[in-house]
Amino acid sequence: MITPKIVRTVADLRQQVRAWKATGEMVGVVPTMGALHDGHLSLARAAKRECERVITTIFVNPKQFNNPEDLLKYPRTEEADAALLATAGVDLIFAPPPEEVYPEGYSTTITVAGVSEPLEGAMRPGHFEGVATVVTKLFGMTMADRAYFGQKDWQQLQVVQKMVRDLNIPVHVVGCETIREADGLAMSSRNARLNAEMRPKAGALYAAMTSAAEAIRNGADPTQTLNLAASQLIAAGFERVEYIELRDAATLLPVSHSGAERRMLAAAWLDDVRLIDNIPV
Ligand code: PAF
Repeated sequence: MITPKIVRTVADLRQQVRAWKATGEMVGVVPTMGALHDGHLSLARAAKRECERVITTIFVNPKQFNNPEDLLKYPRTEEADAALLATAGVDLIFAPPPEEVYPEGYSTTITVAGVSEPLEGAMRPGHFEGVATVVTKLFGMTMADRAYFGQKDWQQLQVVQKMVRDLNIPVHVVGCETIREADGLAMSSRNARLNAEMRPKAGALYAAMTSAAEAIRNGADPTQTLNLAASQLIAAGFERVEYIELRDAATLLPVSHSGAERRMLAAAWLDDVRLIDNIPV
């Protein structure tokens, strides 16, 4: 097993990446905020299958938290993360301090209009600007050829793909399948915050979504079906459903034509934990 090298500065990172590229090695990056779980490891493994060298970035990006308390509460588990990444064959961990990413005087923000505006964008103002800005910087810093993101954050994946196309960023973005617990709950660093009473209820989100998706595929009215799914979630113990919507999979706008690829996306609160999920329809 290789112990990944931990690098804190862009200069040291670039020196290593240039050495790899000089010998023709393909470099993959898995951007993360740490608190790693099997979902992240599956991204690292996918990267390792396709690239000679894999970098995982661990950076809790302050610019994408619209709630300061959420930023403070975000788990920081670098030692455990490094041990897990070693098992996935990751070569290098880039874990910069905030001032390396946003030095004094930093002033640039990336906005991806359209796709970043509905759903998560409406619920978490500024979130996708923070994501797009840091991801652009991580692409520039790592000079990676390929970048691996989970489909769990579907809208984030669409935002990153659109941004890469719009800005001609020379990286190939790969969207990897959501990894789920046995009851269907999508793996997420936030799941650790579900207490013993709440955790057994969390699988209801995926269950409600999959049965609604099946009903819609079989011809049921989408609005009525999604309203029913929302009431099923409340009956299962969720406090609040922020949204459960059927959208065009690429634009995240309401589905406007019958040939469009469709995606169901939902966000709901279980106690004080906000869960999101999405599935194809
Ligand atoms: O999905 C995440 O963990 C973050 O949004 C990302 C892509 C690492 C950017 O901070």
